[in-house]
Amino acid sequence: AVGGGDELRHVEDMADLPSGAGKSSRVKGVILGESLASEEDDLVFPSRDFSQQALVSSLQQYQEMYKRSIDDPAGFWSEIASEFHWKKKWDSEVYSENIDVSKGTVMIEWFKGATTNVCYNAVDRNIEAGNGGKIAMYWEGNEPGQDGQLTYAQLLDKVCQLANYLKHVGVSKGDAVVIYLPMLMELPIAMLACARIGAIHSVVFAGFSAESLAQRIIDCKPKVVITCNAVRRGAKPIFLKEIVDNALVECSKNGVSVGLCLTYENQLAMTRKDTKWQDGRDVWWQDVVPNFPTTCEVEWVDAEDPLFLLYTSGSTGKPKGVLHTTGGYMIYTATTFKYAFDYKPSDIYWCTADCGWITGHSYVTYGPLLNGATVVVFEGAPNYPDSGRCWDIVDKYKVTIFYTAPTLIRSLMRDGNEYVTRYSRKSLRILGSVGEPINPSAWRWFFNVVGDSQCPISDTWWQTETGGFMITPLPGAWPQKPGSATFPFFGVQPVIVDEKGKEIEGECSGYLCIKKSWPGAFRTLYGDHDRYETTYFKPFPGYYFTGDGCSRDKDGYHWLTGRVDDVINVSGHRIGTAEIESALVSHPLCAEAAVVGVEHEVKGQGIYAFVTLVEGVPYSEELRKSLVLAVRNQIGAFAAPDKIHWAPGLPKTRSGKIMRRILRKIASKQLNELGDTSTLADPSVVDQLIALSDC
Ligand code: WTA
Repeated sequence: AVGGGDELRHVEDMADLPSGAGKSSRVKGVILGESLASEEDDLVFPSRDFSQQALVSSLQQYQEMYKRSIDDPAGFWSEIASEFHWKKKWDSEVYSENIDVSKGTVMIEWFKGATTNVCYNAVDRNIEAGNGGKIAMYWEGNEPGQDGQLTYAQLLDKVCQLANYLKHVGVSKGDAVVIYLPMLMELPIAMLACARIGAIHSVVFAGFSAESLAQRIIDCKPKVVITCNAVRRGAKPIFLKEIVDNALVECSKNGVSVGLCLTYENQLAMTRKDTKWQDGRDVWWQDVVPNFPTTCEVEWVDAEDPLFLLYTSGSTGKPKGVLHTTGGYMIYTATTFKYAFDYKPSDIYWCTADCGWITGHSYVTYGPLLNGATVVVFEGAPNYPDSGRCWDIVDKYKVTIFYTAPTLIRSLMRDGNEYVTRYSRKSLRILGSVGEPINPSAWRWFFNVVGDSQCPISDTWWQTETGGFMITPLPGAWPQKPGSATFPFFGVQPVIVDEKGKEIEGECSGYLCIKKSWPGAFRTLYGDHDRYETTYFKPFPGYYFTGDGCSRDKDGYHWLTGRVDDVINVSGHRIGTAEIESALVSHPLCAEAAVVGVEHEVKGQGIYAFVTLVEGVPYSEELRKSLVLAVRNQIGAFAAPDKIHWAPGLPKTRSGKIMRRILRKIASKQLNELGDTSTLADPSVVDQLIALSDC
């Protein structure tokens, strides 16, 4: 059985770029087959009133600030950093870096030598500034009517109690803590408590299966796992504690035992007495945490000490532990949040992302709280009890900044305008989009219907690895083009390169790379610096390679065109095709699998799996279901294939490499674009695959 693959399979086998890397071409900002005719000339201007009140109110002001950030990064960023609290200032060098593999080990450091604490800056500092009584978080539960709130002062109490408890059970600076929680306020509280004591949190999205959770626990060996007994999402209960139990069994089989599972009793979903329990290992949060003092001394850590690990998907089967450190990440998330959302202290901000993903780290928890913002944390599903839920929440809390993913926009768009127009939404002033390219028709609907043509949209392009926004509009500063993420954030130098890694200027398409470091950049892959270099810095020496394709139009606007490696974006969730393949081949009847992404009306990309069965096994509906189940069990429901395509054989080169390019064409039914198949070991497999397309 074959699954996985090498890190970057080969530049030639990357997904097709809009019109071939290197060639100058017309931009492509669409993913749903819309006409391209006039997109690059389709300008949407901010209103004069909006621009006048904006933090950056003109292109010229941006250009001046941008120029300074590039000419003098040390001056630019240290000035911003001075607004934060540092126990000790940084060394004379504000940053140092080597991102050129040919010159030695890749390393990035910002504010080295300084000591600070992110939790202190995100919570205590706001209280000291007189905002202890300001709401830090509104919490909206799964059912309308379930809600809660915490002021900054109350948040600090909760964070300190948990921090004290963690210290009490032996967690200290540098220890890992895995957090497997739904969107309760306890999730950001747990992140902040770790940050306060210098522990490294690793949040695992609570939609991942026991196996995926186990894999992450085995990699980072936490002292404690924090979870809750169950959660309801929509009508469905999910028994998280059971998933953790199963994961921990798997971990001990692999020699990793976790001594403590701190479990929050989520009474709204499940009672204590129904929860399976292992005495000695499991402890109820409510039984211990509230007994601890509400003050807890801060652990001052070096700016380059780790803040968190977050596992993300790459081209191989094994998720990578992306490591972010303290000082640079803090300054970068705070600054990007402030400018890309034109943040004002009176804003009420809601980001629909889960803290299990990077968006929830940088833009539910850290970025907003570092600005002293009021954040809405939503536990439920955006279409429960009906498709108007988001706008109900917007009206209820008078949300001014609403940040979400194109997949949600498309699914709500399909449900009809009445669900939106039923609500006032008049508090909204800025909208945001993240996770995948937003197609212009979804952009228009978001703009016209949700925002009543009043709210600029920040289409923020970035990645787990980048820590914060990289290419994004600054609302009010320049006209937008629906589907374009527009221009780079301060300090970011995007370049577009061709297959040979040569920078191409002007209007062009190619591979998106970044020149020079920025404060929010990840510093390594946990325990595997070689893989860090190989994946991100070796493909195009001298640059950070993003894995994305990008076009730049005649006006310099950037249009992200999707991943060019073997990573797909399903409903804004990033997943490696190799991970799905290895889940499929773990099925005893599956001999080989190859997964590609295909256009999907709502999800952006759907998962399309070519499966070769063990010799002599017949195709059946039952088998199809059990293959899908294998993926759900090994990764999580969000990774379940949309389509299983039976494959008597896979198209391979004579050296045995699967030609994914051909599979992508078959999956998207572009049969007249198969290209040259004569280099295949057995060209007839292509016809066989086409014949089985509709089975
Ligand atoms: C994609 C999510 C186009 C891109 C923050 C990137 C986007 C990957 C956008 C990272 C956007 C994210 N326009 N594509 N505005 N935002 N992407 O690590 O392919 O989960 O490489 O981080 O999402 O996904 P990740």
